[in-house]
Amino acid sequence: MDTYDATIERLRDAVAACALRHIAFIMDGNGRWATRRSLPRELGHKAGVEALRRTVTLCRDVGIRTVTVYAFSTENWKRPEAEVRAIMRLLDHYISDAEEGREKNRVRYVFLGDLSALQPEMAEKCRRLEKASAEYGDVLNIALNYGGRAEITAACNRLLAEGKTSVTEADVSAALYTAHCQDPDLIVRTAGEYRLSNFLLWQAAYAELYVTDTLWPDFALEDLAAAVDAFSHRTRRFGNLV
Ligand code: FPP
Repeated sequence: MDTYDATIERLRDAVAACALRHIAFIMDGNGRWATRRSLPRELGHKAGVEALRRTVTLCRDVGIRTVTVYAFSTENWKRPEAEVRAIMRLLDHYISDAEEGREKNRVRYVFLGDLSALQPEMAEKCRRLEKASAEYGDVLNIALNYGGRAEITAACNRLLAEGKTSVTEADVSAALYTAHCQDPDLIVRTAGEYRLSNFLLWQAAYAELYVTDTLWPDFALEDLAAAVDAFSHRTRRFGNLV
C-alpha cells in the first residue's frame, strides 16, 4: 500500500475513533497564494475551487460525512467588482458540475446564507441543486452571502413572525440555516489567521478550532491529517470537568 492509501486508512480509523462527524473550513489565503506567484487574485480563487474539490473528496474518503465551507461572506461584496464577479463565475461552474455529477457523486448540497442578494438565476440554480440532491447522506454546506450575526438575527425574526414570545436554544438552532445537520466538531482556518470572521457563530460554541499557515489552494492530505490528528488529541469537555 502506498503512503497515500496508508494515510487515508489511518485517518479513517482516527475519524471513527474521535467521532469527527462535521468539519468546517474557512478557506483563506487564495489572494496570497496568487500574489506569491505574481498571478491575478482570480486565479487564486480558481485554485481554491480545486482545493475545495480535493478536500471534499478527502473528507468523504476518511469518513467525515458533513463538510461546511465559507465560500462568500456578507462582507465579501466590498471586494472589487471584478473579483466578486470572478468568484460568482467560479461558483456558477461549480454548481453546474455538481448538477451534472450529482448521481455519481451522491452529495447533498445545502446553501447557507441569504441567497436573495444573488442574481435570481444563480439563486434559482442553488435551490435547484439543493432539491435535486436532497436524498443523499453526505452533506456539503456552502456558506454563500453568509454572516453568522445575520443568520442569528434572521432566525430570531423568523421565530417572532411565528408568534413566539420566548424561545429555547433548540428553537434558535432549528431556525438557523444549519437546522439539517449537527454543529461542527472542528473548524479549520487556513492562511494563519486566528479568528472566526462571522462564520457559524452559534454553531461554533463547542467546536474545536485548528489554524494552519497553509494557504487554502495548497491544502492537501497532509494538512487534513494534521487537523484530524490535532482534533483527536483534544479533550472535549463541553463545559464539564472531565
Ligand atoms: C479567501 O481568500 C477566500 C474567499 C473570500 C473566497 C473563497 C472562494 C473560493 C474558494 C472559490 C469560490 C467557492 C466555490 C464554492 C466555488 P482571500 O481572497 O481572502 O485570500 P487572502 O486573504 O490571501 O487575500
